Amino acid sequence: MLKVTVLGTGNVASHFINAFSKNSDIQLVQIFNHKAETLKTYSSFDTTTQLENLKPADVYLVCIKDDYIEGLIHKINQHKAIVAHTSGSLPLLDSINRDAVFYPLQTFSKDKNITFKDLPICIETKHKSDFKILQTLANLLEAKSYAVNSEQRQDMHLAAVFVCNFVNHLYHIGHEICSQKQLPFDILKPLIQETADKINSKIPREAQTGPAKRNDKTTINRHIHQLDNPDYQEIYRYLTSSIQKTYE
Ligand SMILES: NC(=O)c1ccc[n+]([C@@H]2O[C@H](COP(=O)([O-])OP(=O)(O)OC[C@H]3O[C@@H](n4cnc5c(N)ncnc54)[C@H](OP(=O)(O)O)[C@@H]3O)[C@@H](O)[C@H]2O)c1
Repeated sequence: MLKVTVLGTGNVASHFINAFSKNSDIQLVQIFNHKAETLKTYSSFDTTTQLENLKPADVYLVCIKDDYIEGLIHKINQHKAIVAHTSGSLPLLDSINRDAVFYPLQTFSKDKNITFKDLPICIETKHKSDFKILQTLANLLEAKSYAVNSEQRQDMHLAAVFVCNFVNHLYHIGHEICSQKQLPFDILKPLIQETADKINSKIPREAQTGPAKRNDKTTINRHIHQLDNPDYQEIYRYLTSSIQKTYE
């Protein structure tokens, strides 16, 4: 039985808490959060807002905002255990002997169900024995574990920001245009789905279509004039130019 404590109650933490608590081979020892408010949701579990009250566990999984991870890890008093963070961009901490990374390469939102089955988890540890423990944790969730060092993880995270976060922002712009013009965003969903599906059979470079790829100047200029928001005009110009340079 692997004993795990989760630190944080946000998007990532909530999904790990849910998965760990349902798994009979994992004991969810405790849940920590710096504020008591969100811990109310977890009143049936052992919870704490005090790091000095952390109970012994095999793994402390730190799922908090990147900017506060290092400071919090230094205050954890259970340094005989593995302390793993879930950030895509933070390196291992030199000062912590059993510091580790357990980075799930997926987008998590609290109110959206997600399955850990086959989900890639990038693991980095200082000790081989710790890698095995975190690999076991990933296996128990039926996730796929990968040995990824800090540099590789930072590059994967950078790529992930392009293919997920930036793409989602573009969905948001499309959604805003539809709302302003009273058009149903749902009409775009088969297109969004097919765009994502297509990269299973073609590399993205080969899958590109649209006015920028065709260099349809009249359409491009009309689109820029249709946009009221100068930031969106700039995004349109930058992306159009980037696509055009790709196919020069
Ligand atoms: N969301 C994703 O899709 C995703 C995917 C992979 C990896 N990650 C990584 O997972 C980690 C958590 O991301 P998230 O999206 O779950 O973030 P989140 O939803 O914003 O949750 C952040 C957590 O950090 C806590 N927190 C905020 N300020 C703090 C402080 N000063 N000290 C201690 N705790 C503090 C928050 O508590 P309160 O809410 O009570 O303030 C909350 O529990 C990050 O390292 C992120 O890079 C995220």
